Amino acid sequence: MCGIVGYIGNNAVDEILLSGLKSLEYRGYDSAGIALNDNQGIDVFRAKGKLQNLTEVIKAKHISNRQVSQGIGHIRWATHGEASIENAHPHLSNDGKLVLVHNGIIENYKELKDELIKQGYHFFSQTDTETIVHLIDREYKRVSSLEQAVIRAISMLKGAFALCIMHHDEADKIIAVRKNAPLIIGVGKNENFIASDIPALIGKTQAIIHLEDNELAIVKKDSVVVKSFDGKILNKPVETVNIAQDAISKQGYKHFMIKEINEQPQIVRKMISTHMSSPQQSIRFENIDIEELIENIDKIEIIACGTSLHAAQVAQYMIEDLCNINVTVEAASEYICKKHLTNNKTLSIGISQSGETADTITAIKQAKEKGAKILILTNRPDSSIVRYAKYVLPLNAGIEVSVAATKSYTAQLTALCLLSLAMAEKQKNTNPEQLLPIKQELLMLPTKIEEVIYSSTTIKKCAEKYNGYKNFFYLARGINIATAQEGALKLKEISYINANSYAAGELKHGPIALLDNNMPILALLPQHSKTFEKMLSNCEEARARHAHLIAMTNSEINKKELFDDTINVPEISEFLSPLLFSVPLQLFAYYFADSLNLDIDQPRNLAKSVTVE
Ligand code: M6R
Repeated sequence: MCGIVGYIGNNAVDEILLSGLKSLEYRGYDSAGIALNDNQGIDVFRAKGKLQNLTEVIKAKHISNRQVSQGIGHIRWATHGEASIENAHPHLSNDGKLVLVHNGIIENYKELKDELIKQGYHFFSQTDTETIVHLIDREYKRVSSLEQAVIRAISMLKGAFALCIMHHDEADKIIAVRKNAPLIIGVGKNENFIASDIPALIGKTQAIIHLEDNELAIVKKDSVVVKSFDGKILNKPVETVNIAQDAISKQGYKHFMIKEINEQPQIVRKMISTHMSSPQQSIRFENIDIEELIENIDKIEIIACGTSLHAAQVAQYMIEDLCNINVTVEAASEYICKKHLTNNKTLSIGISQSGETADTITAIKQAKEKGAKILILTNRPDSSIVRYAKYVLPLNAGIEVSVAATKSYTAQLTALCLLSLAMAEKQKNTNPEQLLPIKQELLMLPTKIEEVIYSSTTIKKCAEKYNGYKNFFYLARGINIATAQEGALKLKEISYINANSYAAGELKHGPIALLDNNMPILALLPQHSKTFEKMLSNCEEARARHAHLIAMTNSEINKKELFDDTINVPEISEFLSPLLFSVPLQLFAYYFADSLNLDIDQPRNLAKSVTVE
């Protein structure tokens, strides 16, 4: 949800900013812009749409021979105001001396804007951000110090903001500010960097300072001073991060999404071996004492959004099945609108790939305030959500660049499966022998995922056959309802197809009215499920309404007259089937979108981390 960068030093500022923004493009691509500060003044370059458009604007201006030593940049996911050049950041003060970029939302911008207009400020955009520029500018004119002006202005702001601010009269510094939106400082030699996320710093520096909420940094070429919003100097540790350049390169794959799908067997294999040395041994998590985790707990609630919410739904089945604990699942954006019976006997589990999803952070904060124990599953253990957690389960799936989540989902499911087994092992009434077959089968999962990936030609052909349809149904029952939802979400996100998932038994209660020969159905049919026969009956009902049917199954169903196409999946138990069936669904969506030549890694209107509520 918007990405910001800053650089101060002697190297090519425009190139550093552009390469930083390139690595943050997953955060938004409605517009891009940079501002450069040198002794001639501040120059702003902005373009609507993707970063490439900005690169062309900059190329046309031949700026490379200027002596610039500082700059800031932004890529936008539009909130206030459409995607346009006027609304693109950076935003300038009326006298052209102050410039800033912003990630977040200013909730009280309307009142502040009205006040500033009355005081004579002119606004040129519809953004909430422009209010911050004029507010700081007003304070600067009162106190003649950028740092003091920033501190005064931010005390008047409500909402979320990560900011990089430059002033022409104080061209020795960039001020970076953080409140409820991520921001890090990259420490170099005679140069320093600012960024929303680590990928923007890969190849530039490994030394990083994480800003916390309510902190600001005065970043100069040869120093970084971090202060609290009340002006106190803080002694912040400089951490070393070790992320290889190829973690954010496609490595020969056409898209990040297919690269990330292919990484899944390895991620799952590593996760299983990290926590389970053999099926006979208990499952262990570093820094999580499972006994302590479930001690005095009478309820578990799982909170997440999007794909992570689907992982939560699968976990609900797993935990209830193995542990006999009542589990509720809630979309984070809904959790915060409801009265909850969360208390100190609740274990609240937050799931977030990015750890920066605003809805999930707010919900988890509320659960914590009500006394719940907090466990967070995240792919980014350095992210904002972690600070509310007593326990953290890292997903270790590596940086996920594609906006459509794939490998993080499979990592979430694997972690949740291991967690449910570990909790079951600690239950007094569980016989460990009952869990053994699941643990043994889990060891085979990476190879089965590999088999699915090797058979992707069939899936590709099937996806291409159906790519002319504008609507799709996904049907499943039980633990795989969430799998169907996730499959439909993948198709929706990257193909813009109206794909909807239903609990197959619900079809006859309404959605069946939509069926005709223009509505293909993808039915998930894990053979060993309690509801396999019922699923087949639901497919018959759909067939009778002339719907085209694709079976995704590990069974040898010989029903040529019922199914138009079959996607075969290796043998798997119902309990583990969500971990396997999600992979052919990802491939189906990928090849569907690819055959339509769509922008798979950066689908329209979306961003990877949704840092606004
Ligand atoms: O980073 P998070 O897991 O909290 O993100 C939640 C959703 O925004 C995310 O899963 C989204 O639905 C993805 N685009 C799905 O592919």
